[in-house]
Amino acid sequence: MKPVLTNSMTNSEESKHGLGLAQIKQLKTELTRFMMSYKFALDELNTKIDILKQEFQYIHDYNPIEHVKSRVKSPESILNKVYRKGYDLSLSAIKKNIKDIAGIRITCSFIKDIYELSNMLQSQQDLEVLEVKDYIENPKPNGYQSLHLILQVPVFMSDRVENVCIEVQIRTIAMDFWASLEHKIYYKYNKAVPERLKNELKEAAVTAAQLDKKMESIHQEMSAIKDASHSHNVEKLQINDETFTLPYDLLKPFMNK
Ligand code: GTP
Ligand code: MG
Repeated sequence: MKPVLTNSMTNSEESKHGLGLAQIKQLKTELTRFMMSYKFALDELNTKIDILKQEFQYIHDYNPIEHVKSRVKSPESILNKVYRKGYDLSLSAIKKNIKDIAGIRITCSFIKDIYELSNMLQSQQDLEVLEVKDYIENPKPNGYQSLHLILQVPVFMSDRVENVCIEVQIRTIAMDFWASLEHKIYYKYNKAVPERLKNELKEAAVTAAQLDKKMESIHQEMSAIKDASHSHNVEKLQINDETFTLPYDLLKPFMNK
């Protein structure tokens, strides 16, 4: 095993783990800086997503994003993945090989929103798209659906610019519901899920996809009706995340004053 950092300590200062105290301190500093860059990248991308969400809501008059969850992988699971995959034991190799240290999961209302959001992110000049996996167009054999992007975000640190990878998973509420249940079952059975359950999960995935299609078509029908009968009797005000309506007969006295 190659050490992540070189040892600058004498034997007398070695801890019970066989690492020198200064070495541990240096390792901690390096690891903290490394992990921080992922947190900053997530902060940046979360801001971008929030801007898109607010703008989208203003333009389309509904909220395309149900919720956003982000996380940085724990150092423990990063190392487990390194050992499992047999990657080199250095921070630069970890950075290069593990693209899901930072992850964002965006749950959208409708499938159309997933692609719109993905296109909007992909066209941002400071984001580099490293990978797109469309498990909606091509679901996994077990039924899993989601749109995955690997994006690279430049993070401006005090003394350097770090290009940091983030895995973005975009899915509908139904896809998310399915994925979390499947995940639980997979771990409950320690990855050996009985055939019958596998088949039921696959069926549930198909049902979830049908529900998404149905909800989207109802939503489209509703938007058409709304457009056709667009009321001129109310004025809409968008303030932060909330939409307020103000009937003209309440506004008129103000305007006539
Ligand atoms: P790693 O397994 O992370 O090395 O990635 P990969 O290259 O196989 O990537 P992929 O895009 O297929 O999956 C990345 C992530 O998507 C996983 O860590 C999960 O969060 C999610 N995911 C992928 N497949 C499934 C699935 O079958 N079920 C569930 N519940 N989640 C999945
Ligand atoms: Mg992963």
